[in-house]
Amino acid sequence: MSSSDFKIFAVFGNPVAHSLSPLMHQAAFKRMGLKAQYVPFCVKDIDRAVDGIRGLDIQGVSVTVPFKTEVMNYLDEVEEDARQIGAVNTIQNLQGRLKGYNTDWLGFILSLKEHMEVRGKQFVVLGAGGAARGIVYGLKKEGGHPIILNRTLSKAESLGKEFGCPFLSLSEKEKVEADCLINTTSLGMAPNKGRSPFPKKLLKNFPWIVDIIYNPLKTKLLKKAEEAGCRTMSGLGMFVHQGAEQIKIWTGQESPRAYMKKVVLAKLKEND
Ligand code: ATR
Repeated sequence: MSSSDFKIFAVFGNPVAHSLSPLMHQAAFKRMGLKAQYVPFCVKDIDRAVDGIRGLDIQGVSVTVPFKTEVMNYLDEVEEDARQIGAVNTIQNLQGRLKGYNTDWLGFILSLKEHMEVRGKQFVVLGAGGAARGIVYGLKKEGGHPIILNRTLSKAESLGKEFGCPFLSLSEKEKVEADCLINTTSLGMAPNKGRSPFPKKLLKNFPWIVDIIYNPLKTKLLKKAEEAGCRTMSGLGMFVHQGAEQIKIWTGQESPRAYMKKVVLAKLKEND
């Protein structure tokens, strides 16, 4: 089979072995009847890897940790949402011209809107790193009101000032109440499964507790939230929607989101 028979897509990250993107995207392509191969690359040098997209005629690339910001330096164009968030998780190859997008924020918002109204609601965003930037951006864009709560106050402050929202140090957590608490830190993610970023006794201050982590599906935070009588949402929906939005950018086609979710869910349960 020659490479012109099928289109190549990839994920760039380091590490990348644990990524469920190859499983999800490949399953989607097959269901869609596309002749396409999605390949994981553990990248050593992102500058040269991006050159490889042109050299190998790779049609589209997912970008993951730790390259989402650095990769922006090597693209020909960056779309507005990604530029404002300061991170690219999707590259489209238009005849050798590389354009960067961010679908993480949209994936999150689409998943959240399956469960609740965003407009006019108060959200406490735990964390002020790269993941938090996309979430805060999306919430603001949808008319939500985020408050940033972070261990290091200076980081909460710079994010809060940039996006025009209130910020607090994590040490002031007793003071906050909102419609929803969103964890954007990596606490609770494998291999830090046993950890939670927020004390159980304060969870009752939020009707909804959301974790953007999807591995494990039920983090310690979400387990405690259920015990406290809160409603919960995991990061699985965000993961599926950000991937589906990538496929839409690359192919112009809608992908089978419910099926993609089923495939990822089965794998997560198997891993458990
Ligand atoms: P990412 O890009 O995935 O968001 P990051 O930029 O390293 O990752 O950000 C991690 C976030 O998790 C930060 O807000 C960090 O808080 P600090 O700004 O104080 O470092 C937060 N975080 C990480 N470990 C934490 C912990 N043990 N307790 C509370 N917050 C933590």
